[in-house]
Amino acid sequence: MVPEPEMPPSAKATLTSLPYRLAARRLILPWILQGVEPSGEGLEIGAGVAGLTAQLLTLYPRFRMVATDTDTERVGMAEQVLSGFGKRASVQRADAVALPFPDSRFDLVLSAAMLHHVIEWDKALVEAVRVLRPGGKLVGYDVLNTAPARLMRVGERNGTTLLHPGQLRTALNKLGLTDLQTRTALGGAVMRFSARKPAALN
Ligand SMILES: C[S@@+](CC[C@H](N)C(=O)[O-])C[C@H]1O[C@@H](n2cnc3c(N)ncnc32)[C@H](O)[C@@H]1O
Repeated sequence: MVPEPEMPPSAKATLTSLPYRLAARRLILPWILQGVEPSGEGLEIGAGVAGLTAQLLTLYPRFRMVATDTDTERVGMAEQVLSGFGKRASVQRADAVALPFPDSRFDLVLSAAMLHHVIEWDKALVEAVRVLRPGGKLVGYDVLNTAPARLMRVGERNGTTLLHPGQLRTALNKLGLTDLQTRTALGGAVMRFSARKPAALN
């Protein structure tokens, strides 16, 4: 049983603020989704306090999601953030490199700014594809290895590393996905990706 810490008022205020909700729904999620229309059941890996999961569930009222993260405190906060969605949402403490879900369970897997925190980030991508059903979509974005990111030391704690665009593209290409799209933005500081799991991979 994961303890549920009280969410800091500042974090709660940010996640429920109109600017955050508008930015997530109108800018961030459409930008990540690249035209993908979520349906069925989705999984967010490294969901943090589930701010994006919550907005995704709001945007798509028939969509269901499981939000996962390794950080016990964030998992507890995510439970609070998603409590209003009833059975459409659940939260589980899970490591993205060893997901506790059966093959082909999910219609969509979302990975938002989390791979650079994971030492075995390529294994996390393999796991994401494993739990996708054939025809399911992988969508996400991550921070790349640029001077500003290095300056902010993003992803350099606990031995994790920032990815070079070629590394991420190569890893995605190896997964045997179809309709793979990768696009950099913000002057090469981030890369978004979307792809579909073909039937033959199952
Ligand atoms: C920058 S936050 C992104 C949170 C969320 N995806 C968002 O965009 O709002 C990265 C998250 O990845 C989580 N994380 C780090 N390593 C992980 C792993 N191996 N498996 C799952 N989550 C992990 C961290 O605990 C953190 O909550």
